[in-house]
Amino acid sequence: MALQAWYMEENKEDQTLPHHCNPKEHVSLSKLAELGVLYWHLNPKDYENDKEFQTIRQTRGYNYMDLLDLCPEKVENYEEKLKNFYREHIHADEEIRYCLEGSGYFDVRDKDDRWIRIWIKEGDMIVLPAGIYHRFTLDTTNYVKLLRLFVGEPVWTCYNRPQEEHPSRKEYIKNLSEKVGVALQAY
Ligand code: LAC
Ligand code: NI
Repeated sequence: MALQAWYMEENKEDQTLPHHCNPKEHVSLSKLAELGVLYWHLNPKDYENDKEFQTIRQTRGYNYMDLLDLCPEKVENYEEKLKNFYREHIHADEEIRYCLEGSGYFDVRDKDDRWIRIWIKEGDMIVLPAGIYHRFTLDTTNYVKLLRLFVGEPVWTCYNRPQEEHPSRKEYIKNLSEKVGVALQAY
């Protein structure tokens, strides 16, 4: 099954619900790619020996990797962490996550500042570019096991919105407008 993503209705209630718009508005992989979001579907069963995964890691320089098993017994300050994940923020680097078990939602802002909800499940690997506004929540199944990857020594610092003057935000906006420029030239 391909990755599912959709525009989200503005709703402050239960963050673990899908919150589709009415009517539903799906978002394609190419639309996500325009925002700089990358996606692969891999075999999570034997990821340590998966050649495709190894190639992605080598090509993109993802030498660091650890496991985030999101359940109260295994994560310190579980509630606090979940709350911070769902606060809109950016990072100075890519956010690279590979879902081994369970599922969850990565929400990203599009060019018009609308939320797109990306439903990550077993085998889904995504990369959010540095400087994109985003957040994460569990869904109603309430469990996810993620691999976190990074280039070099990991930095998990979140910069909560607003961050318009942050260098990675400025760089992201610049890249976005250049991409739009290229798309227009193609017509
Ligand atoms: C985060 C978790 C979900 O950093 O990995 O948002
Ligand atoms: Ni983040």
